Amino acid sequence: MQDFLQTLPKVELHLHIEGSLEPELMFALAQRNGIELPYATVQEAKDAYCFSDLQGFLNLYFQGMSVLRNEQDFYDLAMDYFRRAREEGVVHIDMHFDPQAHLQRGVPLEVVMAGLLKAKQEAEESLDLSIGMIMAFLRDRPAEEALHVLEQAAPYWKMLDAIGLDSAEKENPPSKFVDVFERAKQLGLVCVAHAGEEGPAEYIKEALELLNVERIDHGVRCLESEEVVERLRREQIALTVCPLSNVSLKVVEDLRDHPLPKLLSEGLKVTISSDDPAYFGGGMLTNHLACAEAFGWDKAVFRQLTRNAIEEAFTTQQRRDELLRRLAAI
Ligand code: ADE
Ligand code: ZN
Repeated sequence: MQDFLQTLPKVELHLHIEGSLEPELMFALAQRNGIELPYATVQEAKDAYCFSDLQGFLNLYFQGMSVLRNEQDFYDLAMDYFRRAREEGVVHIDMHFDPQAHLQRGVPLEVVMAGLLKAKQEAEESLDLSIGMIMAFLRDRPAEEALHVLEQAAPYWKMLDAIGLDSAEKENPPSKFVDVFERAKQLGLVCVAHAGEEGPAEYIKEALELLNVERIDHGVRCLESEEVVERLRREQIALTVCPLSNVSLKVVEDLRDHPLPKLLSEGLKVTISSDDPAYFGGGMLTNHLACAEAFGWDKAVFRQLTRNAIEEAFTTQQRRDELLRRLAAI
């Protein structure tokens, strides 16, 4: 199974590039930029990655990314992850990034975009990897700020595949962002949103009805509403489920308690991603191996999950066909 899961042409639809910042690179960038970290050693940072909920994680996530200041830092961050993901057999990544988290530290959007886009281009040319770009908005910040950032991103609109919605979910319902998502739709951008991670099933319904999202990031709490499950099934809306993230952030106590098998038996379009691999114990291969062990899934289940992800990936029809052929060949 290990060999099969390594070879499987895995497609990651839910990855925060800032959450791929390994402590080793964090220390190197801190030194390069003369930034002091609250940890004395890499091990101390790793020991601090013990969370009781989403907010506890977000505090360290925003602190960690404070070492990202220059174009080269964003390039190094992304290339470091792309190489690691490729070694794990990943062939496509839809990458969320959080411009507001950098703008509020005084890092210009141009710096963020230049570094990430250079890494994307290089990975696509030399690593057999395709990359989608999802500009995400922080839902615990004002909607007006998100709208402003979306307008500010005008020079990059054509390089974006989608907009997303992330950060602290509780008390920040999708309805807060109707104007932002309407504007994105006007611009021809696809919309996705985190919903039903810590927030209720109602937020999934809102994201679908009010934000017109095409995919739901996480969505595991859909099972609390018959009506929401029925809609997700009928419309075959993809859920980008992140098993090890859900364990780390105590959405579930243990992976064996995770609703993934139930989501599958309900006929939902499930996919598997790593979310923030540097913080949650590993990337795509680790997540797949953990699921194999916890649920005893056979190859057919993993093939189906991968087919789902290939079908939903932000890429060209040509690349999608190629990835489907590669999946059929293993
Ligand atoms: N930003 C980075 N990771 C996130 C997650 N799991 N949920 C919400 N926002 C995030
Ligand atoms: Zn996420």
